[in-house]
Amino acid sequence: MKRILVSGAAGQIGSELVPALRARYGAATVIATDIRDAHDALGKDGIFEVVDSTDAAALDKTVQRHGIDAIYHLAAILSATAEYSPQRAYRINLGGLFNVLEVAREHGCAVFTPSSIAAFGPSTPRDGTPQDTVQRPTSIYGITKVAGELLCDYYFTRFGVDTRGLRYPGLISHTARPGGGTTDYAVEIFYHALQYGRYTCFLAADTQLDLMYMPDAIRAAIELMEAEPARLRHRNAFNIAAFQATPAALAEAIRRHLPEFEIRYEIDPVRQRIADSWPRRVDDAAAREEWGWRAAYDLEATVADMLRSLAPKLGPPSPVPAGGT
Ligand code: NAD
Ligand code: SER
Repeated sequence: MKRILVSGAAGQIGSELVPALRARYGAATVIATDIRDAHDALGKDGIFEVVDSTDAAALDKTVQRHGIDAIYHLAAILSATAEYSPQRAYRINLGGLFNVLEVAREHGCAVFTPSSIAAFGPSTPRDGTPQDTVQRPTSIYGITKVAGELLCDYYFTRFGVDTRGLRYPGLISHTARPGGGTTDYAVEIFYHALQYGRYTCFLAADTQLDLMYMPDAIRAAIELMEAEPARLRHRNAFNIAAFQATPAALAEAIRRHLPEFEIRYEIDPVRQRIADSWPRRVDDAAAREEWGWRAAYDLEATVADMLRSLAPKLGPPSPVPAGGT
């Protein structure tokens, strides 16, 4: 039977991946870990432990104690936060990944590591970004992502560690709030639309990026880890796409449900610069061919399901706070 460890389990992805893995493989087989205490959220249906992924010895002990044979390594610092603390981002994103790969090598674990559209940069073709292309990112987050992809491929070819990864686009979800990324606007907009009827966006109206609804992102991780290895010509990491949108298009789609919703723009130059260096639309042909990837949610379906799921959690609308939205 599989024994799975999830690092960074309390974050935006982990808080939905852990329940999905427990539902599929059995609650007792999935050990959720994070540097933050999340016993309340993740310790009720299974085991939760506080583990810092930069602490190699603690990670090793946890893997041995639970007889782990697969690690979903989600612990990381996201793009916007990383830009304010590059040294910390390097230590956590690359140092943590190195520890995970070493533990996997010693104890025979498979490893899933998310990469990102941030692994591309301004010299990458921005429309129809190919699977294999120029990767010269300019953000520290992107640099850790492309280095992480290479490190994971190295551990596969050099040591035979079964490493697999996805280049996630900006993820939209309603369980845990996003953790400091450039695409956080695509989640915040729903909270503000329902709570205040308006939102001030930190990216320009016409900034087009790839976006994806969380159920697709979770399914993609599980499908890739279950894919027949002989079919995989790529490993770290696959482009995957669902739909593309600008903040203006997302606002328009929300207005079809909430006609009074208003969006304003106050550009954050740091996050705008990051977004402008990322693809507008990636080509996910390799993922489709090698393991049958196909997104289920487009923009309309995502917006409808987000509003339907989030509204009961937020309760009635509130007055706009003094500092604005
Ligand atoms: P998140 O910020 O919501 O969660 C990350 C979690 O890692 C947090 O709970 C945090 O407490 C934990 N963490 C931080 N440092 C740690 C450490 N030293 N040891 C253990 N845990 C630590 O991020 P997320 O959105 O869930 O992203 C997970 C992964 O997916 C990351 O690698 C991220 O780069 C990648 N990704 C996310 C998105 C997205 O839109 N959410 C898109 C592309 C890639
Ligand atoms: N959503 C992530 C971020 O904005 C992309 O990796 O950082």
